[in-house]
Amino acid sequence: MKIEIERQMLVLKALARNPRDMGTLFPSSSRLAGTMAGAVSPRMAKNGVLIELGAGTGPVTEALLKRGIPPKRLIVIEKSPALAEYILKCFPHVDVRCLGAEEMSACLPERTRVSAIISSLPFRSLPKEVSVSIMREVECTLSSGGIFVQFTYALVGKMPFIPAGFRRVRTRLVPFNVPPAKVEVYLKPRGKDIITVRAPAEH
Ligand SMILES: C[S@@+](CC[C@H](N)C(=O)[O-])C[C@H]1O[C@@H](n2cnc3c(N)ncnc32)[C@H](O)[C@@H]1O
Repeated sequence: MKIEIERQMLVLKALARNPRDMGTLFPSSSRLAGTMAGAVSPRMAKNGVLIELGAGTGPVTEALLKRGIPPKRLIVIEKSPALAEYILKCFPHVDVRCLGAEEMSACLPERTRVSAIISSLPFRSLPKEVSVSIMREVECTLSSGGIFVQFTYALVGKMPFIPAGFRRVRTRLVPFNVPPAKVEVYLKPRGKDIITVRAPAEH
């Protein structure tokens, strides 16, 4: 019980500091986190890494580790310094990076295979340009044949910002979460690795 109260207090503090980044009043339940983690398998970590975006207080991180993802194969990206510090304290063997998901490729060694990206980012509350830039990073960073997992509280309608060509392969409702949520899994088609060439900065 103590850990739930600690997580709830941290979420409320983060929400007060930056409501659009947090996008929720509550940490995800173990059911929602378990459904997110159920979309991946330890096999995916054999020849690649898995990246978690927007870890918050860590319910999904915990579920991924319980699912058998080796901590050394899990990169956790969390923008809030207070939450990133908390995650590192709870899961000292996981590679935690305190940065915006829009910069995720910068923290990966060249030619890293990214088998899955598991995101709890609140795309419906983030500024549109931030969401677009994060999804561009997802599109470029995820290896072909890899999966993108996202939850949303919008139970009907399409998820926004999903890259063209990504195919939805699974939808799971999680009614016993506050609020009820939906987990969707998208597959990046094989042979569709995108090489991005960044334009030189203008002076
Ligand atoms: C809806 S909360 C989810 C937290 C946790 N995964 C859970 O399920 O309870 C969203 C999290 O995304 C983080 N976040 C928001 N914008 C971000 C960004 N651009 N890059 C990385 N993390 C971000 C917030 O700080 C917050 O911890």
